[in-house]
Amino acid sequence: MNVLGIETSCDETSVAVITDGKLKANLISSQDFHTDYGGVVPELSSRAHLQIIMPLIKKALDKTGFKLEDMDVIAATAGPGLIGALLVGLNFGKGLAYSLGKTFIPVNHIEGHIFSGFLMEEKPDFPYLCLVVSGGHTLLLLVQSDFEIIKLGTTVDDAAGEAFDKVSKMLGLGYPGGPLIQKNAEIYNGELIDFPVSRCKNKYDFSFSGLKTAVLRFLEKEYGGVGKAPEKDIPMLAASFQKAAVRALVEKTELALGEFNPKSLSLVGGVAANKFLRNKLAETAKRHNKKFVVPALEFCGDNAAMIAYRGMKLYEGGYSFNFDFNAYPGLKE
Ligand code: KG4
Ligand code: ZN
Repeated sequence: MNVLGIETSCDETSVAVITDGKLKANLISSQDFHTDYGGVVPELSSRAHLQIIMPLIKKALDKTGFKLEDMDVIAATAGPGLIGALLVGLNFGKGLAYSLGKTFIPVNHIEGHIFSGFLMEEKPDFPYLCLVVSGGHTLLLLVQSDFEIIKLGTTVDDAAGEAFDKVSKMLGLGYPGGPLIQKNAEIYNGELIDFPVSRCKNKYDFSFSGLKTAVLRFLEKEYGGVGKAPEKDIPMLAASFQKAAVRALVEKTELALGEFNPKSLSLVGGVAANKFLRNKLAETAKRHNKKFVVPALEFCGDNAAMIAYRGMKLYEGGYSFNFDFNAYPGLKE
């Protein structure tokens, strides 16, 4: 069985092909021009997806030696994400499936991330605890099976990636903030500022706006405002923020490992690319004697491999969808 996956929820256009459960191609085209604007400009993102999607599909198929007609299932991200961006990939997928008489499967982007560990050689075992950390979402989940997910906690304000992006901006580092914060934090190994992490009513919820404000207050108090810190202090500030943000994520995850005793722990989403977080959670999993699965970097950020994989699972599970299935910007619960 051949599955074509299409992902266009934000600023990555991606196309993947899975054949009989094996990933044959996963091409990702990142829209780097958004850095000039300090964040993703939705209208520009949709236009760029439109320009690249057809050549990218052709390139992915060329890589596998297949033709469009050889695809059995066409899976595309339906949401959550930027509505204009989503509409490009979803409608492209729908159009292809309709004209070729193939099965069309809309995929939830977050579900794509949740199961992205299965793209690895070493896969999670059910039930597994899953920490989803992306630019738009922060979720702690107990994944019982392919179709049974229990939500333990979520963010009450900013997503983890959003916090990295906002603090990066405050430090004058630019967008996307995660990799830039990491890079700066890595070159520093002196004393750190102990930024506080907010507590939440639900013990598994996350809050990052307090931490963001603590960084802002520190910049105001010590340097007289945002953008005033000398360059030599940026690595120390980045490392201090990263440590606090990662501590918040690891603490809640460790608490849930103790309470729910899952078989594995999986870390997924764009922020899962963070080396410091990967290392800290690997240590935590080891302490609790759990298998730790974190996707390779190409499967952490947005990619179509995870969309094709999820599409394949939905198809195998007997789920079917009509062509009037629409894109949705928010999270479907
Ligand atoms: O999953 P993703 O690619 O897109 C969404 O679905 O949101 O996640 C993007 C987020 C951005 O906020 C970006 O700053 C963050 O992932 N990110 C990182 C790193 N690489 C990307 N955050 C921390 N450390 C990184 N190395
Ligand atoms: Zn994502």
